[in-house]
Amino acid sequence: MGFNVAIDGPAGAGKSTIAKLVAEKEQFIYVDTGAMYRGLAVYFLDHGVSPENEGELENACEKIKMDIRYENKVQQVYVNGENITGRLREEAVGNMASVCAAVPVVREKLLELQRELAAAQDVIMDGRDIGTCVLPQADLKIFLTASVETRARRRYLELKEKGVACDLEEIAADIRERDERDSTRKTAPLKQAADAVLIDSSDLSIEEVVAVIASLCREKR
Ligand code: C5P
Repeated sequence: MGFNVAIDGPAGAGKSTIAKLVAEKEQFIYVDTGAMYRGLAVYFLDHGVSPENEGELENACEKIKMDIRYENKVQQVYVNGENITGRLREEAVGNMASVCAAVPVVREKLLELQRELAAAQDVIMDGRDIGTCVLPQADLKIFLTASVETRARRRYLELKEKGVACDLEEIAADIRERDERDSTRKTAPLKQAADAVLIDSSDLSIEEVVAVIASLCREKR
């Protein structure tokens, strides 16, 4: 069994940035579970699968073989033998992932794969339900959050830097909608585990958050 760190929280709290840096510092493999939901979403979009139709989702899930590989420690998502990692950040893929992730059959599809990855090596795994459902026995659980305003501002600056036209209010509305969907769904909602350490990053720098988590890892290891 590897040393397992679970890091959950809402969209835009900085989980992946932080988890990658902690992984580097503490020699963990960073497992991005959102990328797995996004990987299924790519298949659903390509094959015209309706996210409202559970039967269709179930049939599609049966046809998907997902492999997670690490190339230079960077996670690559393969769907039926094809590396689709380059498509995961598309807006349509994110929206499809968020809708499908509420459906139990979709979550079941990924659960075993996520547990296998954590059993095989030392990991820091990020998502929404890692501390509550996927790895309830994780050695360390973090719930990383930030205010909607902070998360919207970070996303706005990120897009602006890439030269993408965007509107701060629209981004904030999108974040609120995703929070609502992730935390009110029946299956594995976004929720802080009772034994998770809460970190609000609204007024902390990336380096500060990484330092706090790295020092918690050392205490537990
Ligand atoms: O974190 P990321 O934005 O890549 O995740 C995409 C979507 O997948 C999220 O909006 C969320 O609904 C879903 N997700 C989930 N459980 C996880 C990881 C992601 O429901 N463990």
